[in-house]
Amino acid sequence: MNLHRITLRNAADLDGFRRAVRWLACEELAPQHVVWSLDEAPGLFGEDALRDAPPVSLPRGVARLIELGVCHSDPERYALLYQLVWRVLNGERDLLEVASDPLVHRIDAMARAVRRDLHKMYAFVRFRRMKAEHLERFAAWYEPEHFVLEAAAPFFIDRFRSLDWTILTPVGSMRWDRRELRFGPPGRREDAPAEDGFEEGWRGYYESVFNPARVNPVAMRAEMPKKYWRNLPETASIPGLIQTASRRVDAMIGQEATMPAKRTPERALEAMWDQEPATLEDLNAIIAKAGPLVPGATQAVFGEGPKHADIVFVGEQPGDQEDLQGRPFVGPAGRLFDKAMKEAGIDRSHAYLTNAVKHFKFEQRGHRRIHSKPTAGEVKHYRPWLMKELELVRPKLVVALGGTALLALTGKSTPISRSRGRARFGPYLGYVTVHPSYLLRLPDEVTKREAYEAFVEDLRRIHDLAQADPDTGELPLAAE
Ligand code: URA
Repeated sequence: MNLHRITLRNAADLDGFRRAVRWLACEELAPQHVVWSLDEAPGLFGEDALRDAPPVSLPRGVARLIELGVCHSDPERYALLYQLVWRVLNGERDLLEVASDPLVHRIDAMARAVRRDLHKMYAFVRFRRMKAEHLERFAAWYEPEHFVLEAAAPFFIDRFRSLDWTILTPVGSMRWDRRELRFGPPGRREDAPAEDGFEEGWRGYYESVFNPARVNPVAMRAEMPKKYWRNLPETASIPGLIQTASRRVDAMIGQEATMPAKRTPERALEAMWDQEPATLEDLNAIIAKAGPLVPGATQAVFGEGPKHADIVFVGEQPGDQEDLQGRPFVGPAGRLFDKAMKEAGIDRSHAYLTNAVKHFKFEQRGHRRIHSKPTAGEVKHYRPWLMKELELVRPKLVVALGGTALLALTGKSTPISRSRGRARFGPYLGYVTVHPSYLLRLPDEVTKREAYEAFVEDLRRIHDLAQADPDTGELPLAAE
């Protein structure tokens, strides 16, 4: 029997496999006449020089199984997939419907394993800022089980389009420079920073979304196998969170009795994680359904602005006017903010304005509703929604207006005077400045004027930062 050897890359060589299939099908070579071998960098299809052949038409389901199957680490993957193709092209067009067929069963299981590996990668890659870099660059080390690097690329580009990032794995690497994706050689763990300044932030974020009522360490380990833990800063919190979970569940149950059944924040969070919102509209529907944490607000006030604005401004919570009109920053602080933005050259209609807390909290004094500052606990409850909002908008720059916004974005309470200026909030370039209502509260006109000028100056920097050159990452503020 004349055997034909096909050598493909020992990676997800989808193009190579497709080309080989076209040629083999055209030559009518059955699987038993083909030997598949793997090489790190094969020449053009190894021993058999393949000529171009016309495409073959395969059912969509088969084409999808091929896309996933080539990513599997099983060395027999190409041989198995070609057996599938051969049978489909030779009288068994509906083969995939025969779930009991051993070949279908095996390839299905491979596809499921690859899908699972992709989801794990989406969830467990943590970018860290590269030290001593003048440009803003991030790197992550990750060890997938299968060859999923290329298949995962669209997800990471979509999520982190405005960042310059590299993912290093033992079998290959990829770099997105905000314009182009390039694949490269395998990396080493030590090529990616072990940590950066935002470890605390990731931990705080994880703690805020952790639901003690759902603790199941076995399931947790299955979902987040220990091998990934060392790359995830938030896993430092897991043992403590598990130990205190039952106490926290008791506290939750006690709390629930004092709250209207439909409106508990825990329910809101559960709703959020059960059906992850894919759009801002979905997210807003969840927030609206949850209702205010503290009773009284007329409505939830959602973020407002273009869906993918370059700048997101995060305020504290809606005020009296915002509560009535259902829009952020439309009261006295909002008017001052509008004026300052205009002076700094920022077009409000191009920015996205939102708040750390989405409902107005107040004290009733006669006819007046006096703003009451949200507590740290309230900020924490709304925080996952804010994080999800940022994830959906994917801005270039996130601006914390005042201490409450800063607490929401970092999980830490820090004086504005200490953190004013450029910052980093997880994957986002950030900026910290005062809240416009602080300017309204200043007692004398001179101080007020000076503080206002400084605020406008901050907004000018913010405007420049959001215009950073996407090619070089150079900021107009390079002198800073
Ligand atoms: N203050 C805020 O923080 N947000 C608003 O929307 C209005 C005032």
